[in-house]
Amino acid sequence: MNHLLEIKDLSVAYGDVQALWDVSAHVDEGTVVSVVGANGAGKSTLMRAISGLLEPLSGDILFRGETLVGVPAQEITARGISHVPEGRGLFTQLTVQENLELGAYLAHVRPHFAASLDHVFTLFPKLKERRGQKAGSLSGGEQQMLAIGRALIARPKLLILDEPSLGLSPLVVRQMFELIARLHDEGVTLLLVEQNIRQALKAADRAYVLQTGHVAMQGEAAALLENPQVQKTYMGALD
Ligand SMILES: Nc1ncnc2c1ncn2[C@@H]1O[C@H](COP(=O)(O)OP(=O)(O)OP(=O)(O)O)[C@@H](O)[C@H]1O
Ligand SMILES: [Mg+2]
Repeated sequence: MNHLLEIKDLSVAYGDVQALWDVSAHVDEGTVVSVVGANGAGKSTLMRAISGLLEPLSGDILFRGETLVGVPAQEITARGISHVPEGRGLFTQLTVQENLELGAYLAHVRPHFAASLDHVFTLFPKLKERRGQKAGSLSGGEQQMLAIGRALIARPKLLILDEPSLGLSPLVVRQMFELIARLHDEGVTLLLVEQNIRQALKAADRAYVLQTGHVAMQGEAAALLENPQVQKTYMGALD
């Protein structure tokens, strides 16, 4: 079977500082794949390489069988990859509605905007209530919902979420994982970066553990959740 996304022996550097070494990974259609690991492990670097924000040193990234290496970031979005970056990337001075409209800038997306907007407002009723409010005035959780809503407006074939639960209260983190489960049920293909390892493994079909730029472990998320080494290294007593 062909993978929706296939990463082959990918190496990426920032100038002289190499951040990824020979990373291989894949994502199948309709699955949730989590990428976990400590601060600085290279998770965001991997996501930036996939969405065309960083040029790899070597290796390949195939999406629906075609390489993404050398393809401009905008073209990668047009091919169906939406990336919600760490820190969300919202336009805080624009309203909720205007931010969502920006999600529909692609020509093939625009005709579906009304239906997509309805879908996003069904997922996030709060955003509907606050559609006329500036994005910067929303709570952290609401801003994260808005960033995800904007990405969904583009009807991505692959949705990348980089640490969607970062900085949110425990209640809102729970809502975020409920949302991820719902998107999974709806058949959205998700690549999820998380430091909350237990939750990320529970939410996923498969997972990769990155350690200082290398894939340290990979496999079925349920198996990794039970793996003593994963538990010992990444799940403290408080986690
Ligand atoms: N813009 C940059 N310039 C130079 N080095 C960078 C840059 N961004 C990241 N790095 C380095 O690359 C490595 C991987 O960073 P990356 O941001 O991918 O980690 P991460 O797993 O996403 O960490 P976190 O959980 O803190 O978000 C780190 O050593 C980091 O210092
Ligand atoms: Mg990161």
